[in-house]
Formats: sequence, C-alpha cells, structure tokens
Amino acid sequence: MARKPIMAGNWKMNIDHVEATGLVEKLHYTLVDREWDPAKSEAVLCVPFTDLRTVRTLIDGDRLHFGLGAQDVSAHDNGAYTGEISTAMLSKLGVGYVIVGHSERREYHGETDEIVNAKATKALSAGLTPIICVGEGLDVRKAGQHVEHTLAQVRGALAGLTAEQVASLVIAYEPIWAIGTGEVATAADAQEVCGAIRKEVAALYDEPTAEAVRIQYGGSVKSGNVAEIMGQPDIDGALVGGASLKPEEFAAIVCFYQ
Ligand code: G3H
Repeated sequence: MARKPIMAGNWKMNIDHVEATGLVEKLHYTLVDREWDPAKSEAVLCVPFTDLRTVRTLIDGDRLHFGLGAQDVSAHDNGAYTGEISTAMLSKLGVGYVIVGHSERREYHGETDEIVNAKATKALSAGLTPIICVGEGLDVRKAGQHVEHTLAQVRGALAGLTAEQVASLVIAYEPIWAIGTGEVATAADAQEVCGAIRKEVAALYDEPTAEAVRIQYGGSVKSGNVAEIMGQPDIDGALVGGASLKPEEFAAIVCFYQ
C-alpha cells in the first residue's frame, strides 16, 4: 500500500496560544486557496504544550483535518516528575502525534537512545504516533560515519517494539547540521540515509514493515526544495521547523504534490 505523505510543522518554542489562533487561521485560508486535498498529504501541527488546547479547539472546528502533535512527552506514567507531561494527558487533549528524540532534546536535555526508546514505547502504548528523530552532527558527517551513526540511533529507538508498532510510526531523519541553518542536505544525501533506514527496518523486522513505516526528512525544508526532496523514493514527508511558522510556506510544503 502506498505510504501517505506526512508534513509535520514543529513550531518549537515559538507562538503562544494567542498567536496560534492567527497562525492556524491563516494556514487554513491559505490551504483552502491552494485547494489542498487532505487525501494526498497529511498535515500535522506540533505545537508547544501550552497551545495544545487552543489548537485542538481550532482544529475541531476546521474541516481541513489537521493532525495535532506535541513536541515531547514523559517516559513515566504519572507521579513526582515536576514539569513533565504524560502520554495520558496528551491523549485526553486529543493529541495524536508526539515528536521524540529531537536533536535539540538530545543536545540540551541529555536524551539518550534509551530515553527516546522509552518515550516512543510509552507513546505507542497510549495510542499516540511517535515521530522519532534521528540524525548526525557535522563531525560525524565529515568523518563519513553518518549512515552507521543514524542506524545505531534507529536500532536504539526501536528496541523492543513489535513490527506492528514500527509500521505505524514515523521516523524523521534530520542531519543536525541542516537544522535552522539554511544548509539543506541534497536530495541524494537525504535519500541515502532514508533508504538505509528503510533497509535497516527490513533487516530488523521484515519487508512489509519497512514498506509501511513513514520516513521524513527534516532540515531547512521550504517551498523551494520540498518537491525535489519528496521526489526521493524513501522520503515520505518532512519535519519542518522555521518554514512551519509561515503559513504560505507551510501550505506550499503541504501541497508539494501540485
Ligand atoms: O523539527 C524540525 C527541524 O529541526 C528542522 O528545522 O526546518 O528550521 O531547519 P528547520
């Protein structure tokens, strides 16, 4: 079965719940103008925790069927974990997706592959779809170790998951050196690693699982480069930072197929 393209906007720590109303409305009208067909691509908004309730309400009244995602989640169920947000709390708010293991969480919050695995496992148990981020830094890329480095992260993140769980989740390949820098991996660079990830999933599980799992590229994706990136056989979508804050840009990315 063909994989449905998935475009996820990661607002990061931008846009408060008041500003979110304007952004979602502008995105709505821009996508209506462009005659976006939600059967042809999925659009997910991964917003700050404090925006989730507001964006959920906006989405509920919107016929465009955006998906809603959080940017992180706790690996614990509940209890004395000050500042943490549980999968159950997200589910109750109608959140369907959660980014786990973003390079900014790995770098600034010490998230290891084990933590990423625990969060992804917890998210799947609660019925959330994890968007698991992997990818190398510049030193690793320069040393030519980017494929092996990224595959090690994939193996760590997927440890203990069933084939059915893996088939349902999303893996985002984000070379750290291309995030927010304007430096984009070439389409061939991105395909090299995304193709290797799919082969690794086939080796760890089986062909049907590898064919089902959706793999995104992330790193300075914008309207001008999305078509080439989406033209690669193993790239099924994009995880978009900066450009997701601009309705015209994000709408063009969602409508990449036009
Ligand atoms: O989560 C999104 C990525 O970090 C990419 O961010 O599109 O601003 O480079 P960017």
